[in-house]
Amino acid sequence: MTQLRFIDLFAGIGGFRLGFTQAGYQCVFSCEIDPTCQAVYANNFGETPFADITKIDVRSLPDFEVLTAGFPCQPFSICGKRKGFEDTRGTLFFHICRIIEAKQPAIAVLENVKYLIYHDSGKTLAIILESLEELGYYVSYALLNSKDFGVPQHRERLVIIASKKQVFNFRNLSLIKPIPKLKDFLCKDDKFEYLLPDEYTLIDNPKHQQSGLIFTGYRTNKSIWKKGVRPNTEHLSRVHHQPNRIYSVEGIHPTIPSQETSGRFFIYIPSEDRVRKLTINECYKIMGFPEYFKSCEILGSSYKQIGNSVCVPMIYQIALEVKKELSQPISKLIQTNIYSSKQLSLFS
Ligand SMILES: C[S@@+](CC[C@H](N)C(=O)[O-])C[C@H]1O[C@@H](n2cnc3c(N)ncnc32)[C@H](O)[C@@H]1O
Repeated sequence: MTQLRFIDLFAGIGGFRLGFTQAGYQCVFSCEIDPTCQAVYANNFGETPFADITKIDVRSLPDFEVLTAGFPCQPFSICGKRKGFEDTRGTLFFHICRIIEAKQPAIAVLENVKYLIYHDSGKTLAIILESLEELGYYVSYALLNSKDFGVPQHRERLVIIASKKQVFNFRNLSLIKPIPKLKDFLCKDDKFEYLLPDEYTLIDNPKHQQSGLIFTGYRTNKSIWKKGVRPNTEHLSRVHHQPNRIYSVEGIHPTIPSQETSGRFFIYIPSEDRVRKLTINECYKIMGFPEYFKSCEILGSSYKQIGNSVCVPMIYQIALEVKKELSQPISKLIQTNIYSSKQLSLFS
């Protein structure tokens, strides 16, 4: 098969680009509006993405087989009974549809946060699925978790795949077992920021959560509101926020969010009996970014960018499976309709 071509929409710092090029695809177009992301992208891939998707003239786009997009989630306003593609006008998703309609790629791979399932009581997802079907695609979706793709991070993401040929079968994705431990992804040499012993409390019985997280303690800083809260339950109180939680490196790490631009992710290392911040390099490692990747030098932007990005090994596995499905004859068995919500939790 000749090299498959893809376009990288809402490219961010290029998580999709890494996964798809590692799987042997060629990127023929990229689009990203944020100048700081554009700079990182250019520094790594030698090309500055086109800025605003709403300004793309579809006639100027090269041909490609696969469209990828980790698009921002927005509400749709639905008037009366009309639904689907036409009703997405004014949203960024509409511009993905506009490109799909004009270029008819074989497959579109869309990624979003888990919350999209519940957004506007499920209407947003329903419109997205209907819109893609209306454009002549078989659509399937699944909740995928980074921890199933060889990195120690609990990160659930909704992946929607629209295929011209047949329903994409998420069950064929290769999952990587066993789930690695965070301790195997730590840097040996870095600028480590340890907490002082009076800045945290370790709980007596660390809680091994079903997700693979091991909740070990919490930060006892002044910003935690203790008034009216029973001693040692500060971490459970309404005012407690995730940045105060400490997880053991014997387990996995919670989702790296884009909002945490100070990188307040604290880890407990049993072999040292100490607590320190996860470094920015470790954040990139548990998103599956290669060591040679050149991240943004402004720390706050770098944290935001990695939190907004995708788990590269997960995208790589999707890219491999997409390639396989494109080269195979159509299977009648999987030409069914979209996945049910039960199947959605397949990998979580
Ligand atoms: C969830 S992030 C995707 C990150 C990407 N998958 C990565 O690996 O880094 C969504 C991206 O869409 C970009 N974006 C938002 N509005 C846009 C627009 N009108 N045109 C192009 N990109 C846009 C944002 O700047 C942001 O980087």
